[in-house]
Amino acid sequence: MGVSELTRTYVITQLPGDGVGPEVTQVAKACVDAAAVRHGFAVDWRHCGLGGKHYLRTGEVLPDAVLDDLRKSDAILLGAVGSPDVPPGVLERGLLLRLRFELDLYVNLRPSKLRPGVGGAVGSHRLEDLDLVIVRENTEGLYAGAGGTVHRGTEFEMATEESLNTWAGIRRCVQYAASLAASRSGRLTLVHKTNVLTHAGDLWHRIARSVAAETGVELSYAHVDAACLWMVDDPKRFDVIVTDNLFGDIISDLGAALTGGLGYAPSGNLNPDRTGPSVFEPVHGSAPDIAGTGRANPAGSVLSAALMLDHLGEHAASADLDAAVNTVLAGAGSDLGQPASTGDWEKALLAQLTDGGA
Ligand code: NAD
Ligand code: IPM
Ligand code: MN
Repeated sequence: MGVSELTRTYVITQLPGDGVGPEVTQVAKACVDAAAVRHGFAVDWRHCGLGGKHYLRTGEVLPDAVLDDLRKSDAILLGAVGSPDVPPGVLERGLLLRLRFELDLYVNLRPSKLRPGVGGAVGSHRLEDLDLVIVRENTEGLYAGAGGTVHRGTEFEMATEESLNTWAGIRRCVQYAASLAASRSGRLTLVHKTNVLTHAGDLWHRIARSVAAETGVELSYAHVDAACLWMVDDPKRFDVIVTDNLFGDIISDLGAALTGGLGYAPSGNLNPDRTGPSVFEPVHGSAPDIAGTGRANPAGSVLSAALMLDHLGEHAASADLDAAVNTVLAGAGSDLGQPASTGDWEKALLAQLTDGGA
């Protein structure tokens, strides 16, 4: 960390990416700057212009030299990647997943928390009943890229996608989840599909049991299909969920839908060993259907920035960003109620984060 004697200074790279990414990260950046003034730290912002437009212009997705530069940041604030003009996977695999793998971001932390004034798809839950965190394994499983295609273009074409699960990779992720659970309610749930995926499921379950025994957390287990039902029906069953890469991807969108929609859901791709920067991004994608309309909700990006500040040790600033989102949501931050546009969100948040608000 670049800490000078006078001021705590963090090097943060903004990687806005595609679609609504630039719109939402611009608001998150402004909120971080406001919190920095209030809490007496400085941010040395860098900019990384990778994404769909850069790829179409240059053919580059993530050059090694840019990756080496990104490694020098304390954190990366990412918008979203993926563009309708680029074949699926080029940017998602080549940029986003490569960052997760190369920077060893083995935990994808996805809090799913009902906030005041947010109805959500299922509006009947009490705030205290829907406050869970998904710890998604972020470097293995079906995302590892193992597999291939043979006999392409013939009727015998065959494609495989293999799920890779290593003892060490699972264990470090479950250990992170167990210590998070210990700092909350002490309850940890493994979500998997051990009744069908017996090889990987057995390894996950044995490791989860041994980590629970070592750490004293109370372990429960749910099959992923039942977990979806319970997240909707009875979410207070869950506090910290640990799960594999694909299940975590899917249930985190369900968690987002339950807590107001994708626009509200934050995430941190964490390197808990801190051998390099972690990457913070909303759960949503580039939302090409609303890009440029001014309708993107920046809350997920702002809450991702709050996770980033927490990771950097700026806990009070992080809490301020979180509280500012809640206040704006509750309609208390403006006479107009909840913001109707990205710009209105920005004004309402900054009003909370400056002049003694929040
Ligand atoms: P998406 O998350 O971009 O959009 C799904 C729906 O949610 C759309 O209707 C969109 O308008 C809405 N939405 C998303 N973010 C919103 C916001 N901030 N405010 C208001 N509404 C919002 O998912 P998609 O359409 O499946 O994917 C679009 C592209 O994004 C694809 O290329 C995909 O690969 C990519 N993607 C990237 C990430 C990422 O960078 N982390 C995540 C998911 C998808
Ligand atoms: C997410 C996204 C990514 C994922 C895609 C774009 C690679 O859906 O961050 O949830 O599947 O992890
Ligand atoms: Mn996803």
